[in-house]
Amino acid sequence: MVVLVSGSGTNLQALLDAVEAGGVEGYGARIVAVGADRAGIEGLARAERAGIPTFVRRVPEYASRAEWDLALTEATAAYEPDLVVSAGFMKIVGQEFLARFGGRLINTHPALLPSFPGAHGVRDALAYGAKVTGCTVHFVDEGVDTGPVIAQGVVEILDEDHNDGGAALHERIKEVERRLLVDVVGRLSRDGYRIEGRKVRLRDE
Ligand code: GRF
Repeated sequence: MVVLVSGSGTNLQALLDAVEAGGVEGYGARIVAVGADRAGIEGLARAERAGIPTFVRRVPEYASRAEWDLALTEATAAYEPDLVVSAGFMKIVGQEFLARFGGRLINTHPALLPSFPGAHGVRDALAYGAKVTGCTVHFVDEGVDTGPVIAQGVVEILDEDHNDGGAALHERIKEVERRLLVDVVGRLSRDGYRIEGRKVRLRDE
């Protein structure tokens, strides 16, 4: 798989650890490259420490969003991944990327979709006054966080979460999210899957 990141890369680290612990045979997948939309982030440093190739494609360096999307597509395609994992990648990919990787591009989102899509899923759930939130691992389609759901994890919102703007809540979500992502990627890779409309069927389902 190619993993795309924009920040601290703790989800990436969980995948790196799973591959190391299980081996490619045991876990079912390995990371062939890590891509980012910005330089100097811990996510890229994690990849470099693990000896995994990295690439950066920054939107401002291209004349248009479509050109950036094409560059991201080509950089990713160069590694010929079977699966692309958007793990805290804070950009919406475009038509070119979807045409190439649709049906094998997954994203992790820190809310229970279809509630609270977009860049502020944690903050929005808190502001709404929801009592539970969580995370969703899903396939990416043309919409923003609208693709078929693969798995979800639930996290309770506590009264004290309103005191720090959601920082502690996001950390609790990320603990669940990392386990969920590792589990989903391993199962998709080992067992295979079919997408039937909005239903994602893993083997034996
Ligand atoms: C995750 O909660 C992801 O869902 C959100 O940003 C966070 C990324 O965390 N979009 P990390 O970079 O994997 O630590």
